[in-house]
Amino acid sequence: MGKIILTGDRPTGRLHIGHYVGSLKWRVELQNSGEYDKIYIMIADAQALTDNIENPEKVRQNIIEVALDYLSCGLDPEKSTMFIQSQIPELTELTFYYMDLVTVARLQRNPTVKSEIQMRNFEASIPVGFFTYPISQASDITAFKATTVPVGEDQLPMIEQAREIVRKFNSVYEEVLVEPEAFISQNEACLRLPGTDGKAKMSKSLGNCIYLADTAEEVKKKVMNMYTDPTHIQVSDPGHIEGNTVFTYLDAFSRPDHFEKYLPDYAGLDELKEHYQRGGLGDVKVKKFLIRILEEELEPIRKRRKEYEADIPRVYEILKKGSEAAKEVAAQTLTEVKAAMKINYFDDMELIKEQAEKYKKES
Ligand code: TRP
Repeated sequence: MGKIILTGDRPTGRLHIGHYVGSLKWRVELQNSGEYDKIYIMIADAQALTDNIENPEKVRQNIIEVALDYLSCGLDPEKSTMFIQSQIPELTELTFYYMDLVTVARLQRNPTVKSEIQMRNFEASIPVGFFTYPISQASDITAFKATTVPVGEDQLPMIEQAREIVRKFNSVYEEVLVEPEAFISQNEACLRLPGTDGKAKMSKSLGNCIYLADTAEEVKKKVMNMYTDPTHIQVSDPGHIEGNTVFTYLDAFSRPDHFEKYLPDYAGLDELKEHYQRGGLGDVKVKKFLIRILEEELEPIRKRRKEYEADIPRVYEILKKGSEAAKEVAAQTLTEVKAAMKINYFDDMELIKEQAEKYKKES
């Protein structure tokens, strides 16, 4: 059994640096580690439609945005198979069978679904497709026999659901499916990068995101306006680190070599924090440091994005090829699943012979 990665994103907007430190950056590192036999990266358009029923155009437009973000971060079509969920009907078929293995009560307990229902005001009328998307997500993962699923923290309940489905399937039918494991960042700040306004999460509707596709000018402006410590008024005032977005971003992005290069007066982040807390260190200086760090990370991404933007048909071709390759793998798993569930009538010569014998005896 090889080591296989599957992960993906809903195409509902451009990806931001929260996606980047929470998951995208890891994927590229895992891809380049050479430790994985197969890597599948899925654009989850069918899942995006479960809560965007009235907005198919939004989903359609954002497929290319997400694909460009993937490629510009360094996901390499030679090493990773990038594909579009809806183009693999086998995933839908698996979902229908897995539905027999999950109770309504279990879905109702899923914390991510619970909070999403609240966020979307679905309480009164939850679309069935939305309600059951954790099952569909289990199909995405198991169709590729993924062992490793690099995701953000909010996705842990989905992976747990997938694991339960695998255990149930393998015990009721046959050992066909592989139990996946989540892979999440160990860096607390990367797990939950706040918005530039200090709110818990980056979200398009709050307008508090830094996008991977933002220009250097936009990034600079957003950082200069970033929420810090409202009690830190004069440079000489003692400042707070907790809940201070600029420092949370430094926790997520800064490395020792950044200090050597851009702030050699400080041995490292701890020393910078100490100075801020003591007083005498202004926000602007810290923000300028953060801008240089972000630029170092984002500039190559932006450049690669420009290259791919110049050849959009090529990007669609990459997704098409990826979808074809993914479909083959999912079809193989579906064949095994159907055999285990005894719904493979025409492939099962034994069955036909057995029935023929039975009726010969009777006549
Ligand atoms: N639910 C994920 C998100 O909102 C997207 C997704 C769909 C996914 N299928 C997946 C992630 C399978 C990992 C594995 O970001």
